[in-house]
Amino acid sequence: VPRDAPAAGTSQFVVVANRLPVDRVQNDDDSSGWALSPGGLVTALIPVMKDHGGTWVGWVGSADEHIQPFTFDGYGIMPVDLSAQEFNEYYEGMSNATFWPLYHDCVEHPEYHREWWDSYMEVNQRFATAAAEVAAPGATVWVQDYQLQNVPALLRQMRPDLKIGFFLHIPFPPSELFMQLPWRYQVISGLLGSDQIGFQDPGSARNFAHLVRRLAGMRTQGDRIFSPDGRVILARAYPISIDAQGILDLSRTPQARAEAEQLREDLGNPDKIFLGVDRLDYTKGLRHRVRAFGELFTSGQLDPMRNVYLQIATPTREGVARYQVLRSIIDEMVGRINSSVGRIGRSPIEYRHASYPKMALAAMYRAADVMVVTPLRDGMNLVAKEYVASHDSDAGALVLSEFAGASLELKQAYMVNPYDLNGMKNQLLRAAGDTHANHVRRMRSMRKQVFRHDIDAWANSFLTDLGTERSV
Ligand code: ADP
Ligand code: G6P
Repeated sequence: VPRDAPAAGTSQFVVVANRLPVDRVQNDDDSSGWALSPGGLVTALIPVMKDHGGTWVGWVGSADEHIQPFTFDGYGIMPVDLSAQEFNEYYEGMSNATFWPLYHDCVEHPEYHREWWDSYMEVNQRFATAAAEVAAPGATVWVQDYQLQNVPALLRQMRPDLKIGFFLHIPFPPSELFMQLPWRYQVISGLLGSDQIGFQDPGSARNFAHLVRRLAGMRTQGDRIFSPDGRVILARAYPISIDAQGILDLSRTPQARAEAEQLREDLGNPDKIFLGVDRLDYTKGLRHRVRAFGELFTSGQLDPMRNVYLQIATPTREGVARYQVLRSIIDEMVGRINSSVGRIGRSPIEYRHASYPKMALAAMYRAADVMVVTPLRDGMNLVAKEYVASHDSDAGALVLSEFAGASLELKQAYMVNPYDLNGMKNQLLRAAGDTHANHVRRMRSMRKQVFRHDIDAWANSFLTDLGTERSV
């Protein structure tokens, strides 16, 4: 039943993202409804949508399903459908087996298939058409991430009146890698349909500007790109962040405190809890990390009776072959380590392949003495910031890969190169064994950074540059 579909051509602020900000939930009476999905981007953009009378254009997350547009909590939801074939070719294929590895330093080989590209363009056109339909004259449209890089140009063709922003949540690669892409020119042109392009870090913005000069022959100056049609396009870094206060508040609730204590007890009251929380993705450096812990436990440098490494790996993109292979590898590595060190009833590595409610994550962050974030490449890594925000009075320590965007801001972390196994092992020991005073000093300075530069500050600075003031 179409309930109050957002009226065509009336939304002043439109977000276009691969995923909708709502998840389907089962009500008590067995009917189904919608609930806001947790996450920083959603938290930051919903107030803007409410202020400006906005609509979110996105995919519901399952294939071959048609959902009518509807209004949710004061803003519009405009679902874009994907067929099963498009799910394979646009989502699992072009987005997650081509762009994802290509943009993450090719830590796995990207695959190039012409059918995937065709599907990608078709789906990008569908998102652009949906946005063009709901956007009011002169509205602001903010397109998100690598799944939708051609939406800006497609949208501009239909609606030159719109103000179009684009934000890439993952790294933008150096030209040596990007030039592999058979559709390199089309992707650059797609992005250049924007008025403003945001990246996670200045290096990504520089890589992009370099390619614009090389492939599109446009002149650039600092973070400005001069397009032959007279437009000046801004391309610069806007490092994304989290709802720091919201996360801190959650971690201070009696429930989070109780769950954290319970967790420590369930883990056998170890001296130190090391924690990893990642999607089970090959960019996250899990193989290297598990290997480092395996060696530390085997050699006894970390006593397997007194220390626990808890690793949460969130199921993700399970239809993509590389992710299936990774899962088997990690299963095997963890099994092998646990079966040879530790003893019955005591596994040094506690490994869970599951999603958890935000409350449970807050409790884990609270309980963890050492947070271990060691991606091989990561645009930002919000988990690192969430850990820092959750630890108020307790000390805690963050071990962080220098290849995560977050390392540019969280400079007081125990920094590691995840490819350097010995270096990583040393930093893990150092983080765990450092003095309380050092822990407090480092965490305090990182907390300051995260609270000053939270998700609201991020959305504000992007939208202010785009000329869309937030009124909250
Ligand atoms: P990525 O975007 O690549 O997954 P980030 O670290 O930037 O990596 O963001 C991951 C987000 O997903 C964080 O907000 C984190 O809290 C959340 N998350 C990760 N694992 C889980 C899990 N098992 N259950 C629920 N939320 C999770
Ligand atoms: C990263 C990407 C997002 C994506 C998320 C989860 O954060 O930047 O665009 O939504 O991973 O991946 P998924 O494929 O499940 O949407």
